[in-house]
Amino acid sequence: MPRIAVVPGDGIGAEVTREAVAVLRELDRDGELGLDLVEWDLGADRYLRTGLTITDEEMAELGSGYDAILLGALGDPRVPGNEHARDILLGMRFKLDLYVNLRPVRLLHPGGSPLKDVSPADIDMVIFRENTEGSYVGMGGVFKQGTPDEVAIEEDVNTRKGVERIVRAAYEHAGRTGRRLTLADKSNALRHSGQLWRRVFGEVGDEYPAVETGLMYIDALATDMVLRPGRYQVIVTSNLFGDIISDLAAGLAGGLGLAPSANLHPGRIGLFEPVHGSAPDIAGQGTANPVAAILTAALMLEHLGRTDTARRIEAAVEASIREGATTADLGGPLRTAEAGAWIRNALHK
Ligand code: NAD
Ligand code: IPM
Ligand code: MN
Repeated sequence: MPRIAVVPGDGIGAEVTREAVAVLRELDRDGELGLDLVEWDLGADRYLRTGLTITDEEMAELGSGYDAILLGALGDPRVPGNEHARDILLGMRFKLDLYVNLRPVRLLHPGGSPLKDVSPADIDMVIFRENTEGSYVGMGGVFKQGTPDEVAIEEDVNTRKGVERIVRAAYEHAGRTGRRLTLADKSNALRHSGQLWRRVFGEVGDEYPAVETGLMYIDALATDMVLRPGRYQVIVTSNLFGDIISDLAAGLAGGLGLAPSANLHPGRIGLFEPVHGSAPDIAGQGTANPVAAILTAALMLEHLGRTDTARRIEAAVEASIREGATTADLGGPLRTAEAGAWIRNALHK
């Protein structure tokens, strides 16, 4: 029986995870899925209450005792330094070595994009974001803090091993699905890391001669994703660039309320979470869109080998958007719980 750690987290993370879990429980009513869902109290409340973010023992237990983690979001205005999110979220990514941050973006409905004249075939991409190094490693420091001579250094770490394994994962996916692969970098300005990424991209590419490839500078890609999104099917890039363009890609498909993600290391536990954050601007109002979290649960089921059930969830979500049964971010009249209930009901149609 797959064991799932559920980490609702902060702000709307808890509100949307409630709906994702309700969908899983609905599907599991006759024990069809056989999921063991265990809720974990990690987040700002616990940190403010106890001073603990996540302990080494808890991290080890997650890594060895579970098949997947389903997470809402972490981030709370009461923790302005964001240290709990760094320890918990980046901690899971780094310590569990979840090197693939997979961020699929698909237009679910012809009218759902802010771009004009695009169809679902034009917006269907998967971003392979490197997830264990880059600018996120926390190497660096400050000098003369608080003085006019203050210095802040944030190192950007790119290892041969780290680059090669994410590039290989992207080629594997592009090869298996017969889709075009684009490397996004900034090698015209960031020479040292750029030449490593380009060299590895070429070398690994020799093993996948059937995969059509392209190279783009990340700034030009940002424009081209808006003007010609159909050119982009699989994109591989670094941690920071991947963070930015995955929010951009989500916007092309209708917004952050729709975008799921997976943090993976093939053969090990996966961490599944919406691309969006805890949205303090709407937290507590019951208006957040639960679709990203629900599609995240579908992505998790797919990785647990329950592909048919994942498709069933996706079909119910697509129906909700087609019928206008959505939350306000998509122009609909429903509240979070109502949108979740609509989707649960549509599972049986
Ligand atoms: P955000 O993604 O939380 O919100 C950006 C905007 O999108 C906001 O206007 C918000 O209301 C809207 N939005 C996001 N999700 C939505 C949904 N499901 N339904 C409707 N509207 C939605 O990004 P932010 O405001 O930059 O960050 C807020 C906090 O979340 C910060 O602390 C940040 O560090 C954190 N964060 C956490 C994660 C994560 O845990 N995976 C991801 C991103 C940001
Ligand atoms: C994301 C988030 C995180 C990131 C933050 C909360 C550290 O924006 O998952 O996209 O930058 O990776
Ligand atoms: Mn992000």
